[in-house]
Amino acid sequence: MSSTREKQRFPTTQRPHWRGCVGTPPRTDEGTMSEIRIPIDVPGHATSLVVRRGGVQVVGSILARESIAIDARRVLVVVDASIAATHAPRVVTALERAGARVAVHEMRAREETKSMREVEAIWSAALEARLDRGGLLVALGGGLVGDVAGFAAATYLRGIDLVQIPTTLLAMVDASIGGKTGVNLALPGGGLGKNLAGAFWQPKVTIADADLLTTLPVRELRAGLAECAKHAVIAGGALLAALEADARALAAGDVSALDRLIPASASVKAAIVARDPHELGERALLNLGHTFGHAIETVPALQLLHGEAVAIGMVAAAHCAHAYFAPPVGSPSVGSPNEPLAVRVERLLSQLGLPIRMPLPIPQSEIRHRMGFDKKNQGGVLRLVLARKMGDVTVVTDPPEETVLAGLAAIGAAGESAM
Ligand SMILES: NC(=O)c1ccc[n+]([C@@H]2O[C@H](COP(=O)([O-])OP(=O)(O)OC[C@H]3O[C@@H](n4cnc5c(N)ncnc54)[C@H](O)[C@@H]3O)[C@@H](O)[C@H]2O)c1
Repeated sequence: MSSTREKQRFPTTQRPHWRGCVGTPPRTDEGTMSEIRIPIDVPGHATSLVVRRGGVQVVGSILARESIAIDARRVLVVVDASIAATHAPRVVTALERAGARVAVHEMRAREETKSMREVEAIWSAALEARLDRGGLLVALGGGLVGDVAGFAAATYLRGIDLVQIPTTLLAMVDASIGGKTGVNLALPGGGLGKNLAGAFWQPKVTIADADLLTTLPVRELRAGLAECAKHAVIAGGALLAALEADARALAAGDVSALDRLIPASASVKAAIVARDPHELGERALLNLGHTFGHAIETVPALQLLHGEAVAIGMVAAAHCAHAYFAPPVGSPSVGSPNEPLAVRVERLLSQLGLPIRMPLPIPQSEIRHRMGFDKKNQGGVLRLVLARKMGDVTVVTDPPEETVLAGLAAIGAAGESAM
């Protein structure tokens, strides 16, 4: 089949419609399956996200349509070992059917293996499989595999083509989009410094197949929903309304609802990344809830997944914003169209099955101390992403301490008097 003819189904004249698009984009039917393609116009590195149930079984034709040559090409599939048996065979078969010569490398998806040692193991596997500069690396896994394999692709022979096939919701709507790749580094005093070495390396295409999520543990699925809630608060409007309407179905893992959500949610990040690929400005807005969230995530006693910590962090940020922007006395009540943002955020996250308070009353001072290490801080000054209202998010530099503490108190952090 001619890839040129296939490409005409997505004429470039349609593309402006997608830029900054939030909400449910139009679908394209191909055979019996419905597919959405979101161009991500990163300057000099245009890429795209293809959302399609059953997409892994037709990887060859999707790549052909994206003008990614596959016939006789050497391909290394780097797969999360825990899903290698369930998900890799269909990808490998589809690639081989399209003429590729495929080798598979398995890695364990743990923060401890998100390391240069694992990158070296992938380089070795690529050498073993005789990948040259025309080789292709396919990352099949969650954000962890995507980050490590992506960094290996960015550096092997000074960079080879990369295709991301994310297998977690978090990776489908967030980690596989935007080109950030990297590994953790061992800190001098012990412990792991997250994502301290890496590179920007855009995939040629990302393929999101919601059917892969049926094997994902529900806790991991809901952790991914936290990033979708974040996108909804940033964008407001149709995405927020759709997420609220589908919240309970999504929390239960309804694949049709997930398939609808993925393109709408991912398009928020795609649009921001296209405008600010190297995080020089607007991309920082995607850190909503993350300054509080990262601090909470690093408290070992809490044992929270990243997405769970982000959910609690979003609640803290919403209460902090309430104190910072000081809405007038007598502001709209719960259930009204303009009910307080924090109330709406908490209700949404609860319906998505996410925590909205810390499971233990960690002291405010401890969380506040950890917030001091956030990467967004400049010259020791705290910078927070806060929402004035749904769909209106901004970076606040050096917020008054009492507004930060109001956020921490709201999520159950113990004040000095309680200690
Ligand atoms: N590059 C970015 O922009 C970016 C953004 C956000 C997060 N990240 C990174 O992503 C990583 C977290 O990614 P994640 O949340 O996708 O988790 P993950 O990749 O660590 O996977 C979570 C767990 O789910 C398992 N798993 C993955 N897919 C599965 C499936 N389909 N069925 C069953 N089990 C499955 C994994 O084995 C693992 O145990 C972190 O390392 C984080 O730093 C990167």
